[in-house]
Amino acid sequence: MARRKGQQPEYVVICREFNRKMARIDITVIDSGVTEQLLKGLVMLHMRDPHKRYFLTNKKDYQKYGALMKKQIETMSIQNNKKIVELLNDQINKELYSAYLYLDFSNYYKDNGLDGFANWYNIQAQEERDHAMLFVQYLQNNNAKVILEAIDKPDKEYTKLNDPLIFGLEHEEYVTSLIHNLYDAAYSVKDFRTMQFLDWFVKEQGEEETNANDLITKFNLFGSDSRSLYLLDSELAARVYSAPSLVL
Ligand code: FEO
Repeated sequence: MARRKGQQPEYVVICREFNRKMARIDITVIDSGVTEQLLKGLVMLHMRDPHKRYFLTNKKDYQKYGALMKKQIETMSIQNNKKIVELLNDQINKELYSAYLYLDFSNYYKDNGLDGFANWYNIQAQEERDHAMLFVQYLQNNNAKVILEAIDKPDKEYTKLNDPLIFGLEHEEYVTSLIHNLYDAAYSVKDFRTMQFLDWFVKEQGEEETNANDLITKFNLFGSDSRSLYLLDSELAARVYSAPSLVL
């Protein structure tokens, strides 16, 4: 039906309130006939309380598709899935532990005069911190609470120069299993956004395992001869840091 001149279209506001404990979301429907004024009011309200998000829709559409719209709004965030948020938070801790572990490797090589190996693991530690920050940012982008827990102390003991290389591969395989577990949890609740975010990590883990394997292979080939070890150390000294390709 055509609107008469000067008549305001009728709108419906759906308010979504993020529960701070992340376990529940509340959706309220507020009817209103006001438009521009209403929008300004909503922006003000959102600024006052970022845990509330407002969605504006045409009243006629709402009458027709209301239930579907509410469903879509429910699934617009990971926040309604406590398990996923917990696992994402846990992954922050695991990535920071990885950084800690690689820093320990780096210190061990530094102490043993292998500055190239030390450099390689120092950069690896930085990459792990980047991974942790990607999880932080992803949670924040989705209005989910970031919870930081204590980071375990690296407790590896090194008796041979290639021990950190072997521990490194084992650790990356473990991290791969964590990422796959997270992916599986997201898949089971049709959390497509988290799955898409994790795609980058699935690929990254493949590369990390390959790098860890390559280091072991090279050490097995060259590690027992001091001149070859010096050359391998020089090769690893050339590694430079580059920021992750994933941008959120
Ligand atoms: Fe971020 Fe090497 O796992």
